[in-house]
Amino acid sequence: MVPRTETELSRLLKHAIRAEGAMSFREFMQQALCHPEFGFYTRGPDIGSLSGPFQTNAKYGPFAFCLAGAIEQADALIGEPLRIVEFGGGTGELGNRVGSFLHRPHEYVVVEPSPGLRNKQRAIGLRTVAHPSELSPCPSFLLANEVLDAFPVHRVMGDGRGGIQEMYVDVDGHGEFVERFDVPSTPLLRARLESEGIVLGRGQVGDVHLGIDAFMADARSVLSVGYFLVIDYGMTAPDLYHYSRRNGSLRCYYRQRQVHDPLDLVGEQDLTADLDFTAVERAAAHAGFEPVGRQWQGAWLKAIGIDLYRKQVGSSDDSERDIETLTSPSQLGSTFEVLAFRTPGLPPVPGFS
Ligand SMILES: C[S@@+](CC[C@H](N)C(=O)[O-])C[C@H]1O[C@@H](n2cnc3c(N)ncnc32)[C@H](O)[C@@H]1O
Repeated sequence: MVPRTETELSRLLKHAIRAEGAMSFREFMQQALCHPEFGFYTRGPDIGSLSGPFQTNAKYGPFAFCLAGAIEQADALIGEPLRIVEFGGGTGELGNRVGSFLHRPHEYVVVEPSPGLRNKQRAIGLRTVAHPSELSPCPSFLLANEVLDAFPVHRVMGDGRGGIQEMYVDVDGHGEFVERFDVPSTPLLRARLESEGIVLGRGQVGDVHLGIDAFMADARSVLSVGYFLVIDYGMTAPDLYHYSRRNGSLRCYYRQRQVHDPLDLVGEQDLTADLDFTAVERAAAHAGFEPVGRQWQGAWLKAIGIDLYRKQVGSSDDSERDIETLTSPSQLGSTFEVLAFRTPGLPPVPGFS
Protein backbone atom coordinates (compact mmCIF):
# COMPACT_ATOMS: atom_id res chain seq x y z
CA MET A 1 0.00 0.00 0.00
CA VAL A 2 1.30 3.50 -0.88
CA PRO A 3 1.87 5.40 2.39
CA ARG A 4 -0.25 8.49 2.93
CA THR A 5 1.34 11.93 2.88
CA GLU A 6 1.60 13.34 6.41
CA THR A 7 0.67 17.03 6.63
CA GLU A 8 0.74 19.52 9.51
CA LEU A 9 -3.03 19.19 9.70
CA SER A 10 -3.03 15.36 9.69
CA ARG A 11 -0.60 15.45 12.64
CA LEU A 12 -2.85 17.89 14.52
CA LEU A 13 -6.00 15.85 13.86
CA LYS A 14 -4.35 12.59 14.94
CA HIS A 15 -3.27 14.28 18.14
CA ALA A 16 -6.86 15.50 18.75
CA ILE A 17 -8.32 12.03 18.03
CA ARG A 18 -5.86 10.31 20.39
CA ALA A 19 -6.77 12.82 23.11
CA GLU A 20 -10.54 13.00 22.61
CA GLY A 21 -11.58 9.96 20.59
CA ALA A 22 -12.78 9.43 17.02
CA MET A 23 -14.38 12.38 15.22
CA SER A 24 -17.30 12.21 12.80
CA PHE A 25 -16.28 12.28 9.15
CA ARG A 26 -18.19 15.56 8.95
CA GLU A 27 -15.92 17.12 11.58
CA PHE A 28 -12.85 15.68 9.82
CA MET A 29 -13.96 17.24 6.49
CA GLN A 30 -14.78 20.54 8.19
CA GLN A 31 -11.23 20.63 9.60
CA ALA A 32 -9.66 19.51 6.29
CA LEU A 33 -11.37 22.36 4.43
CA CYS A 34 -11.72 25.09 7.06
CA HIS A 35 -9.22 24.50 9.92
CA PRO A 36 -8.37 28.08 11.05
CA GLU A 37 -4.72 27.71 10.01
CA PHE A 38 -4.20 24.68 7.78
CA GLY A 39 -7.62 24.12 6.13
CA PHE A 40 -7.65 23.75 2.34
CA TYR A 41 -9.88 26.83 1.85
CA THR A 42 -8.41 28.79 4.78
CA ARG A 43 -5.04 28.91 3.06
CA GLY A 44 -6.57 30.60 0.00
CA PRO A 45 -6.08 28.12 -2.85
CA ASP A 46 -5.63 29.45 -6.40
CA ILE A 47 -9.01 28.13 -7.55
CA GLY A 48 -9.25 28.52 -11.31
CA SER A 49 -5.56 29.09 -12.09
CA LEU A 50 -3.83 26.50 -14.27
CA SER A 51 -1.69 25.30 -11.37
CA GLY A 52 -4.59 25.48 -8.89
CA PRO A 53 -6.62 22.61 -7.46
CA PHE A 54 -9.55 22.82 -9.91
CA GLN A 55 -11.29 25.06 -12.45
CA THR A 56 -14.79 26.51 -12.00
CA ASN A 57 -17.28 28.44 -14.15
CA ALA A 58 -15.74 31.61 -12.68
CA LYS A 59 -12.88 31.66 -15.15
CA TYR A 60 -15.15 31.93 -18.23
CA GLY A 61 -16.07 35.44 -19.41
CA PRO A 62 -19.37 34.38 -21.05
CA PHE A 63 -20.55 32.90 -17.72
CA ALA A 64 -20.03 36.20 -15.88
CA PHE A 65 -21.60 38.04 -18.84
CA CYS A 66 -24.78 35.96 -18.44
CA LEU A 67 -24.90 36.49 -14.67
CA ALA A 68 -24.54 40.24 -15.19
CA GLY A 69 -27.36 40.07 -17.76
CA ALA A 70 -29.59 38.15 -15.33
CA ILE A 71 -28.87 40.68 -12.58
CA GLU A 72 -29.76 43.61 -14.84
CA GLN A 73 -32.99 41.91 -15.88
CA ALA A 74 -33.77 41.36 -12.19
CA ASP A 75 -33.05 45.07 -11.50
CA ALA A 76 -35.65 45.94 -14.12
CA LEU A 77 -38.22 43.59 -12.58
CA ILE A 78 -37.74 45.03 -9.09
CA GLY A 79 -37.17 48.63 -10.19
CA GLU A 80 -33.74 49.41 -8.71
CA PRO A 81 -30.12 48.18 -8.92
CA LEU A 82 -29.93 45.25 -6.54
CA ARG A 83 -27.12 44.64 -4.09
CA ILE A 84 -25.24 41.54 -5.28
CA VAL A 85 -24.24 39.08 -2.56
CA GLU A 86 -21.95 36.28 -3.69
CA PHE A 87 -21.47 33.40 -1.26
CA GLY A 88 -18.08 31.67 -1.36
CA GLY A 89 -16.31 33.97 -3.81
CA GLY A 90 -13.14 31.88 -4.30
CA THR A 91 -10.33 34.09 -5.59
CA GLY A 92 -12.81 36.87 -6.44
CA GLU A 93 -12.54 36.19 -10.15
CA LEU A 94 -16.28 35.80 -10.66
CA GLY A 95 -17.09 39.01 -8.77
CA ASN A 96 -14.49 40.89 -10.74
CA ARG A 97 -15.78 39.64 -14.06
CA VAL A 98 -19.49 40.14 -13.27
CA GLY A 99 -18.69 43.75 -12.23
CA SER A 100 -16.94 44.37 -15.54
CA PHE A 101 -20.08 43.44 -17.51
CA LEU A 102 -22.61 45.49 -15.51
CA HIS A 103 -23.71 48.73 -17.17
CA ARG A 104 -24.47 50.52 -13.87
CA PRO A 105 -22.55 50.37 -10.59
CA HIS A 106 -23.92 47.85 -8.09
CA GLU A 107 -22.91 47.18 -4.51
CA TYR A 108 -21.10 43.79 -4.61
CA VAL A 109 -20.36 41.90 -1.39
CA VAL A 110 -18.73 38.50 -1.03
CA VAL A 111 -19.59 36.33 1.98
CA GLU A 112 -16.43 34.32 2.45
CA PRO A 113 -15.44 32.34 5.57
CA SER A 114 -11.85 31.68 4.39
CA PRO A 115 -9.39 34.37 5.57
CA GLY A 116 -6.93 33.46 2.79
CA LEU A 117 -9.58 33.85 0.09
CA ARG A 118 -10.94 37.05 1.71
CA ASN A 119 -7.45 38.55 1.35
CA LYS A 120 -7.40 37.64 -2.34
CA GLN A 121 -10.88 39.09 -2.87
CA ARG A 122 -9.94 42.34 -1.08
CA ALA A 123 -6.70 42.61 -3.05
CA ILE A 124 -8.75 43.00 -6.24
CA GLY A 125 -11.09 45.54 -4.70
CA LEU A 126 -14.08 43.42 -3.63
CA ARG A 127 -15.90 44.07 -0.36
CA THR A 128 -16.00 40.91 1.73
CA VAL A 129 -17.56 39.80 5.00
CA ALA A 130 -16.97 36.56 6.89
CA HIS A 131 -20.60 35.82 7.71
CA PRO A 132 -24.05 36.86 6.40
CA SER A 133 -24.96 38.23 9.85
CA GLU A 134 -22.68 41.19 9.01
CA LEU A 135 -25.15 42.28 6.30
CA SER A 136 -28.44 44.08 6.82
CA PRO A 137 -31.43 42.99 4.74
CA CYS A 138 -32.09 44.94 1.53
CA PRO A 139 -33.20 44.21 -2.07
CA SER A 140 -30.53 41.81 -3.30
CA PHE A 141 -29.49 39.26 -5.90
CA LEU A 142 -27.77 36.30 -4.24
CA LEU A 143 -25.35 33.94 -5.96
CA ALA A 144 -23.70 30.69 -4.86
CA ASN A 145 -21.57 29.12 -7.60
CA GLU A 146 -20.11 25.78 -6.51
CA VAL A 147 -20.34 26.66 -2.81
CA LEU A 148 -22.75 24.21 -1.20
CA ASP A 149 -20.83 21.22 -2.56
CA ALA A 150 -17.91 22.40 -0.40
CA PHE A 151 -19.92 22.07 2.80
CA PRO A 152 -18.80 19.14 4.97
CA VAL A 153 -20.92 15.99 4.77
CA HIS A 154 -21.86 13.36 7.30
CA ARG A 155 -21.20 9.92 5.76
CA VAL A 156 -23.77 7.30 6.72
CA MET A 157 -24.20 3.63 5.82
CA GLY A 158 -27.32 1.49 5.63
CA ASP A 159 -27.37 -1.28 8.26
CA GLY A 160 -29.66 -3.61 6.30
CA ARG A 161 -32.49 -3.23 8.86
CA GLY A 162 -33.74 0.15 7.64
CA GLY A 163 -31.40 2.09 9.96
CA ILE A 164 -28.06 3.83 9.50
CA GLN A 165 -24.63 3.99 11.08
CA GLU A 166 -22.33 6.99 10.76
CA MET A 167 -18.69 7.09 9.66
CA TYR A 168 -16.10 8.30 12.19
CA VAL A 169 -12.38 8.86 11.63
CA ASP A 170 -10.12 7.16 14.17
CA VAL A 171 -6.38 6.43 14.46
CA ASP A 172 -5.18 2.79 14.50
CA GLY A 173 -2.23 1.21 16.35
CA HIS A 174 0.12 2.10 13.45
CA GLY A 175 -0.80 5.78 13.68
CA GLU A 176 -2.91 5.68 10.46
CA PHE A 177 -6.35 7.23 10.02
CA VAL A 178 -9.06 4.57 9.78
CA GLU A 179 -12.81 4.76 9.14
CA ARG A 180 -15.17 3.29 11.70
CA PHE A 181 -18.95 3.10 11.72
CA ASP A 182 -20.97 3.70 14.87
CA VAL A 183 -24.29 5.16 16.02
CA PRO A 184 -25.11 8.48 14.32
CA SER A 185 -23.86 11.63 16.05
CA THR A 186 -27.24 13.34 15.51
CA PRO A 187 -30.84 12.19 14.98
CA LEU A 188 -31.10 14.80 12.20
CA LEU A 189 -29.40 12.36 9.79
CA ARG A 190 -32.10 9.75 10.12
CA ALA A 191 -34.78 12.45 10.10
CA ARG A 192 -33.42 13.94 6.84
CA LEU A 193 -33.38 10.60 5.03
CA GLU A 194 -36.78 9.56 6.40
CA SER A 195 -38.34 12.86 5.34
CA GLU A 196 -37.14 12.14 1.80
CA GLY A 197 -38.39 8.55 1.86
CA ILE A 198 -34.82 7.23 1.53
CA VAL A 199 -33.79 3.84 2.91
CA LEU A 200 -30.13 3.02 2.31
CA GLY A 201 -29.34 -0.60 1.43
CA ARG A 202 -27.02 -2.76 3.53
CA GLY A 203 -23.49 -1.36 3.23
CA GLN A 204 -24.64 1.52 1.01
CA VAL A 205 -22.92 4.83 1.84
CA GLY A 206 -24.76 8.15 1.56
CA ASP A 207 -23.38 11.66 2.02
CA VAL A 208 -25.63 14.12 3.84
CA HIS A 209 -25.16 17.91 3.82
CA LEU A 210 -27.01 18.97 7.00
CA GLY A 211 -25.51 22.49 6.78
CA ILE A 212 -27.83 23.42 3.93
CA ASP A 213 -30.70 24.30 6.29
CA ALA A 214 -28.79 26.92 8.26
CA PHE A 215 -27.19 28.26 5.07
CA MET A 216 -30.58 28.86 3.43
CA ALA A 217 -31.91 30.59 6.57
CA ASP A 218 -28.81 32.84 6.64
CA ALA A 219 -29.19 33.61 2.94
CA ARG A 220 -32.85 34.53 3.37
CA SER A 221 -31.94 36.85 6.25
CA VAL A 222 -29.85 39.16 4.05
CA LEU A 223 -32.54 40.00 1.53
CA SER A 224 -35.76 41.95 1.94
CA VAL A 225 -36.81 41.15 -1.59
CA GLY A 226 -34.94 39.52 -4.46
CA TYR A 227 -33.58 36.42 -6.08
CA PHE A 228 -31.13 33.63 -5.32
CA LEU A 229 -29.29 31.45 -7.85
CA VAL A 230 -27.52 28.32 -6.66
CA ILE A 231 -25.32 26.75 -9.36
CA ASP A 232 -23.89 23.37 -8.50
CA TYR A 233 -23.73 19.66 -9.23
CA GLY A 234 -26.15 17.26 -7.61
CA MET A 235 -29.34 15.26 -7.97
CA THR A 236 -32.72 14.84 -6.35
CA ALA A 237 -32.69 12.56 -3.30
CA PRO A 238 -34.02 9.39 -5.04
CA ASP A 239 -31.22 9.59 -7.63
CA LEU A 240 -28.47 10.63 -5.23
CA TYR A 241 -29.25 7.82 -2.80
CA HIS A 242 -30.02 5.18 -5.44
CA TYR A 243 -28.26 1.89 -4.70
CA SER A 244 -26.28 2.20 -7.94
CA ARG A 245 -24.36 5.01 -6.14
CA ARG A 246 -23.66 2.77 -3.17
CA ASN A 247 -20.27 4.36 -2.45
CA GLY A 248 -21.73 7.85 -1.97
CA SER A 249 -20.68 10.91 -3.96
CA LEU A 250 -17.69 12.22 -2.01
CA ARG A 251 -14.78 13.11 -4.31
CA CYS A 252 -11.23 14.39 -3.73
CA TYR A 253 -9.23 16.68 -6.04
CA TYR A 254 -5.54 17.41 -5.86
CA ARG A 255 -3.85 19.64 -8.44
CA GLN A 256 -6.76 19.28 -10.90
CA ARG A 257 -6.77 15.50 -10.72
CA GLN A 258 -9.32 13.33 -9.03
CA VAL A 259 -7.70 11.25 -6.29
CA HIS A 260 -9.40 8.66 -4.15
CA ASP A 261 -8.46 8.76 -0.48
CA PRO A 262 -10.24 11.41 1.62
CA LEU A 263 -7.96 10.62 4.57
CA ASP A 264 -4.78 11.49 2.62
CA LEU A 265 -3.26 14.94 1.89
CA VAL A 266 -5.33 16.41 4.72
CA GLY A 267 -5.74 20.17 4.16
CA GLU A 268 -4.04 19.98 0.76
CA GLN A 269 -6.70 18.28 -1.33
CA ASP A 270 -10.23 19.50 -1.96
CA LEU A 271 -13.16 17.39 -0.77
CA THR A 272 -16.61 17.79 -2.31
CA ALA A 273 -19.90 15.90 -2.59
CA ASP A 274 -22.94 16.12 -4.87
CA LEU A 275 -25.81 18.19 -3.56
CA ASP A 276 -29.13 16.70 -2.61
CA PHE A 277 -31.35 19.08 -4.61
CA THR A 278 -34.46 17.84 -2.79
CA ALA A 279 -32.90 18.98 0.50
CA VAL A 280 -31.77 22.31 -1.01
CA GLU A 281 -35.27 23.09 -2.33
CA ARG A 282 -36.92 22.09 0.95
CA ALA A 283 -34.45 24.13 3.01
CA ALA A 284 -35.06 27.13 0.75
CA ALA A 285 -38.84 26.81 1.10
CA HIS A 286 -38.51 26.41 4.86
CA ALA A 287 -36.37 29.57 5.00
CA GLY A 288 -39.06 31.57 3.19
CA PHE A 289 -37.91 31.43 -0.45
CA GLU A 290 -40.22 30.37 -3.26
CA PRO A 291 -38.51 27.77 -5.47
CA VAL A 292 -38.83 28.95 -9.10
CA GLY A 293 -37.24 26.01 -10.89
CA ARG A 294 -34.13 24.10 -11.78
CA GLN A 295 -32.51 23.60 -15.16
CA TRP A 296 -29.21 22.56 -16.70
CA GLN A 297 -26.62 25.30 -16.78
CA GLY A 298 -26.34 25.09 -20.60
CA ALA A 299 -30.07 25.66 -21.09
CA TRP A 300 -30.13 28.54 -18.60
CA LEU A 301 -27.16 30.30 -20.18
CA LYS A 302 -28.86 30.07 -23.56
CA ALA A 303 -32.13 31.39 -22.13
CA ILE A 304 -30.32 34.37 -20.59
CA GLY A 305 -28.61 35.15 -23.89
CA ILE A 306 -25.09 33.73 -24.01
CA ASP A 307 -25.26 34.17 -27.80
CA LEU A 308 -25.31 37.96 -27.29
CA TYR A 309 -21.74 37.66 -25.98
CA ARG A 310 -20.50 37.39 -29.57
CA LYS A 311 -22.29 40.62 -30.60
CA GLN A 312 -21.65 42.68 -27.47
CA VAL A 313 -18.17 41.54 -26.44
CA GLY A 314 -16.78 39.92 -29.58
CA SER A 315 -16.09 36.49 -30.95
CA SER A 316 -12.71 34.78 -30.91
CA ASP A 317 -11.47 31.20 -30.86
CA ASP A 318 -11.19 31.49 -27.08
CA SER A 319 -14.70 32.84 -26.54
CA GLU A 320 -16.20 30.22 -28.87
CA ARG A 321 -14.41 27.51 -26.91
CA ASP A 322 -15.62 28.98 -23.60
CA ILE A 323 -19.25 29.13 -24.80
CA GLU A 324 -19.00 25.52 -25.96
CA THR A 325 -17.46 24.42 -22.64
CA LEU A 326 -20.14 26.19 -20.59
CA THR A 327 -23.16 25.04 -22.61
CA SER A 328 -22.36 21.70 -24.22
CA PRO A 329 -24.21 18.79 -22.57
CA SER A 330 -20.99 16.77 -22.81
CA GLN A 331 -19.09 19.43 -20.85
CA LEU A 332 -20.26 21.85 -18.13
CA GLY A 333 -23.70 22.41 -19.71
CA SER A 334 -25.07 19.25 -18.10
CA THR A 335 -22.61 19.02 -15.23
CA PHE A 336 -24.09 21.90 -13.28
CA GLU A 337 -27.69 22.84 -12.63
CA VAL A 338 -29.10 26.25 -11.83
CA LEU A 339 -31.57 26.29 -8.92
CA ALA A 340 -33.59 29.49 -8.78
CA PHE A 341 -35.40 31.02 -5.81
CA ARG A 342 -37.28 34.27 -5.21
CA THR A 343 -38.95 36.07 -2.38
CA PRO A 344 -42.73 35.57 -2.54
CA GLY A 345 -44.65 37.67 -5.04
CA LEU A 346 -41.87 38.38 -7.56
CA PRO A 347 -41.97 37.30 -11.21
CA PRO A 348 -39.76 34.30 -12.12
CA VAL A 349 -35.99 34.64 -12.04
CA PRO A 350 -34.59 35.78 -15.43
CA GLY A 351 -33.97 32.77 -17.63
CA PHE A 352 -36.87 30.83 -16.04
CA SER A 353 -40.23 31.33 -17.70
C1 LIG B 1 -15.36 25.45 -4.90
S1 LIG B 1 -15.03 27.04 -4.25
C2 LIG B 1 -15.96 28.02 -5.41
C3 LIG B 1 -15.47 29.44 -5.49
C4 LIG B 1 -16.20 30.35 -6.46
N1 LIG B 1 -17.62 30.45 -6.16
C5 LIG B 1 -15.98 29.91 -7.88
O1 LIG B 1 -16.94 29.54 -8.55
O2 LIG B 1 -14.82 29.91 -8.32
C6 LIG B 1 -16.01 27.05 -2.76
C7 LIG B 1 -16.08 28.39 -2.07
O3 LIG B 1 -17.06 28.31 -1.01
C8 LIG B 1 -16.49 28.86 0.17
N2 LIG B 1 -17.25 28.34 1.32
C9 LIG B 1 -17.07 27.20 2.00
N3 LIG B 1 -17.97 27.13 3.01
C10 LIG B 1 -18.75 28.25 2.94
C11 LIG B 1 -19.85 28.79 3.70
N4 LIG B 1 -20.35 28.14 4.75
N5 LIG B 1 -20.39 29.99 3.34
C12 LIG B 1 -19.90 30.66 2.27
N6 LIG B 1 -18.85 30.21 1.53
C13 LIG B 1 -18.29 29.03 1.85
C14 LIG B 1 -15.03 28.49 0.06
O4 LIG B 1 -14.21 29.20 0.95
C15 LIG B 1 -14.79 28.85 -1.42
O5 LIG B 1 -14.65 30.24 -1.61
